[in-house]
Amino acid sequence: MNKHIISAILLICSAFGIFAQSTFTIDASQTGIAISPRLYGIFFEEINHAGEGGLYAEMVQNRDFEITSIPAGSNMGGNLVRTKDGWQERKVFGNELHGWSFLSEGGAAGDIRLQHDHPLNGKNPASMRLIVTKAGSRSGVYNSGFWGMNFMQGETYNLAFYARTSGNKKLDVTVSLESPNGNRIYAEKKMAKVGGDWQKYECQLVPTASDNLGRLALTISQPDTLWLDVVSLFPQKTYMNRPNGLRADIVQMLAGLKPAFVRFPGGAIVGGMNLDNRIQWKNSIGDISQRKGTMNLWGYYTTNGLGYHEYLQLCEDLKADALWVCNPGFSDNYRKAQYCKPEEVQLYVQEALDALEYALGPVDSEWGAKRAANGHPVPFPLKYIEIGNEASGEVYRTNYKLFYDAIRPKYPQVKIISNYRSIPGGVVEIRDDHKYGSPESFIKAFNQYDNADRKGPEIYVGEYGCTDGVGQGNLKGALAEAVYLMGLEKNSNIVTMSSYAPLFFHVNDNAWPVNMIGFDNQSVFGRTSYWVNRMMAENRPDFLVNTQSADSVKNLFCISGYDKTTDEIILKVVNTGAQSQKAAFHFKGIRFAGQTATSITLTHADCTAENSLFNPNVVIPQKSQVSIGKANIEREFSPWSFTILRVKIVKSKTDKPTNI
Ligand code: AHR
Repeated sequence: MNKHIISAILLICSAFGIFAQSTFTIDASQTGIAISPRLYGIFFEEINHAGEGGLYAEMVQNRDFEITSIPAGSNMGGNLVRTKDGWQERKVFGNELHGWSFLSEGGAAGDIRLQHDHPLNGKNPASMRLIVTKAGSRSGVYNSGFWGMNFMQGETYNLAFYARTSGNKKLDVTVSLESPNGNRIYAEKKMAKVGGDWQKYECQLVPTASDNLGRLALTISQPDTLWLDVVSLFPQKTYMNRPNGLRADIVQMLAGLKPAFVRFPGGAIVGGMNLDNRIQWKNSIGDISQRKGTMNLWGYYTTNGLGYHEYLQLCEDLKADALWVCNPGFSDNYRKAQYCKPEEVQLYVQEALDALEYALGPVDSEWGAKRAANGHPVPFPLKYIEIGNEASGEVYRTNYKLFYDAIRPKYPQVKIISNYRSIPGGVVEIRDDHKYGSPESFIKAFNQYDNADRKGPEIYVGEYGCTDGVGQGNLKGALAEAVYLMGLEKNSNIVTMSSYAPLFFHVNDNAWPVNMIGFDNQSVFGRTSYWVNRMMAENRPDFLVNTQSADSVKNLFCISGYDKTTDEIILKVVNTGAQSQKAAFHFKGIRFAGQTATSITLTHADCTAENSLFNPNVVIPQKSQVSIGKANIEREFSPWSFTILRVKIVKSKTDKPTNI
């Protein structure tokens, strides 16, 4: 073979990673930047039934019968809701009593209707009227929750409902937890003498069997009329057993991400389809019967049961900072924004100031007192406020300054985040960048922030996710995100925060191509992106360590850092190619303490592999101990893999990098 052919073969082999060994020098004697402790956070938005029927543990769907509360000035037609300005959104609910059905057994007759006269209160104008004309063997109503209710044998469920009857009539109402068709009753109680004007009734139910397709029934034994409102069923065991609480299994998944902060409430939902439809935090605090729900711009009804207070409580429980996003005086830019009048902007500024006071104000302030009355006298850990979400245009720039000038002097401890990198005549402390797209674009962005102006505002990548050509969230997309996050980590003296979006999806309602955590009413699982994020957050070093490659390396991305608590070098390597890749890492300025390193690897032979509800563990991290040399590590990285190596080092004055 002539030498040209041989070099051509070698070139092709090296292009595909065959035979080639890449060499990296890791010089721990060099001063690296400090990695931002706030780098990995989470982003919550009520999309895909993230809260309603998901994180929020309420089991009754449409508990307050307000599902037809569509944005003011809009109308419903077919499967759509149309705003006055011409924006159309799908709606996923069928009829005005969505979630509820008349229960008729043994020849019972009657019906259920939505009623607006004699409401429970001004926030809950609609209620449900049950009329039984013939009792049969059983007659009443039932609710099957969010695609079935999950009852666990022996667990306690707290039921509460409001009821009234005509005049002073008293009825016996039987409540039961039962199978989907009602032929098996798991728990039952008779509530005697229900009636008169609106009153709250409560009881506990303990099912004798488990069923994840269960339903809740309320029946009466004779022909009569009963009005119901705010019918609520919660498992007693919520996360930290909080009343009106959150599903413990889902919060555990969040805790696994070790989030430095939690962003809330979104997302486009901050703006809403129109101003009436924006998130109005004041509708989301206090007794659940006094909260006003709305149909959100992702097509379904939100009770606001998981409201501002519950969100702040979650932050505290997760030991995370709160990052709350306020409306900037207009609705979502991508949905034909509706602007408030210039003279009304101050009302929106005040709405934001009141939210800050609710979270942080003393108990003798107006909103601090409400927080205390809602059971939390001590301030919540709110550290950030973002003015608007993906908002743009001249009005945004004008309004931003008004918000900034009002918030900054009153709350010097709160950082203010802008949707713009600069505001003429204004101050930008942190700017919010969003990124969605293909794996290729994420890989390309590895160096995106290398030359970002270090004097400029801090960067918060508030939303990111590989959405194009990655199925519903496969390994290929997640590896590209790993490369991207490594790009953020190596620039985290300017990119100080990030959060993947969207966080959640219910397997029965998914409005976004790829999301991080999926669930139904009894199980929860992480997509590959979840595991990448978790690996990054669990292995966030304190300092970056200088890592150079000797040759130009294709498909292999590498950074390293130092964890001062455990005295470990943390090496992160992603192979985005279909060939395995050999690499040698030569360490300078340190000595290894042992002959093994801890390896954590996320990989699969098929880059289109995905986790799902029924196969949640197809691609999850695997931990092992691997052999290392004296001052070097040689390893072969599988195709499509993300590997983290943690190597314990000897700490000594001479071995220690200068900033460690
Ligand atoms: O994350 C889903 C949506 O994407 C958010 O609501 C919006 O901010 C972005 O466009």
